[in-house]
Amino acid sequence: MIGVAAVLGRAYHVPVMVAEVLRVLAPRVGGTYLDGTVGGGGHAEAILSSAEGVRLYALDRDPEAVEEARSRLRLFADRVRLAVGDFADVHDIFGLGEGTLDGVLLDLGVSSHQIDLLERGFTFRPGAPLDMRMGGAVHGGQTAAAVLNQASEGELRDIFRRYGEERRPKRLVREVVARRAWKPFETSDDLVAALEAAFGRPPAPSDRARIFQALRIAVNRELESLTRGLSSLKRLLGSGGRLVVISYHSLEDRIVKRAFALWSRACVCPPGIPVCQCGGKAEGRLLVRRALVPSESEVLRNPRARSGKLRAWERA
Ligand SMILES: C[S@@+](CC[C@H](N)C(=O)[O-])C[C@H]1O[C@@H](n2cnc3c(N)ncnc32)[C@H](O)[C@@H]1O
Repeated sequence: MIGVAAVLGRAYHVPVMVAEVLRVLAPRVGGTYLDGTVGGGGHAEAILSSAEGVRLYALDRDPEAVEEARSRLRLFADRVRLAVGDFADVHDIFGLGEGTLDGVLLDLGVSSHQIDLLERGFTFRPGAPLDMRMGGAVHGGQTAAAVLNQASEGELRDIFRRYGEERRPKRLVREVVARRAWKPFETSDDLVAALEAAFGRPPAPSDRARIFQALRIAVNRELESLTRGLSSLKRLLGSGGRLVVISYHSLEDRIVKRAFALWSRACVCPPGIPVCQCGGKAEGRLLVRRALVPSESEVLRNPRARSGKLRAWERA
């Protein structure tokens, strides 16, 4: 079968920091791995090719991504199991037992394919429907338009402030609420017009990106999935198993950084207690002290890699 991207004549997605992923994940002969965000299958292919007999569970919320990956990974068919779903639910989806995985990769965010297709509504290019659901229409859930049209003022303020790091969210909420009473939000143009009115100037590309991303995070409950997913994935790792995460914005990176730091600490007593009371043992160790970032040459080749940050942790 030919993938969707091939039909459209462009790459589905160029995988980010492949060499770094392989270096820290260090797939071993006959090992069992999970790619929780398989996208177009670029990282998955690299993992499957990196050592003899590697087996891979691969998952994506987006049915189109799973189809693309199925086509790309067909040569490895007997070593790959693919499914549509959220990595936070991986335990139920594949029925994996605790301690069964040698490594997990999460490459968060959206694929180039999702951004490039206007009808998926992840872009602020003119005329895009405000959709942004990673699972597409098949899996239902609120679209970005529905969030803008139905969320309470408090919920909107929270979305713009927490997820969009907007310093003056109230003026934007007021604008959205006034506009939706007149005409419901439908397309990217409606939201860009609201931004322009609220800011009193045409929004800079970085403002548009920030606010559109905030809505995407809310529509897909991305931070909840990540928080829930990290702790269930940790339990699936066997001794020496590795969890590698590439994130693309500071909110995600903070969640990963804090989780890995907490799991790497022996003592979890509250600060100020002179002698450790908890007798705790670290569950594992950080594999990289500071997040790895893409090389300059990679960013030149693939500008979409520029905000990537890779963190990795190993189970004791
Ligand atoms: C940056 S792309 C991954 C690209 C992939 N590594 C490759 O080599 O092509 C991110 C993918 O993660 C998926 N995704 C994001 N959050 C997810 C979640 N909670 N569960 C499963 N898939 C998710 C998106 O649908 C998207 O296809």
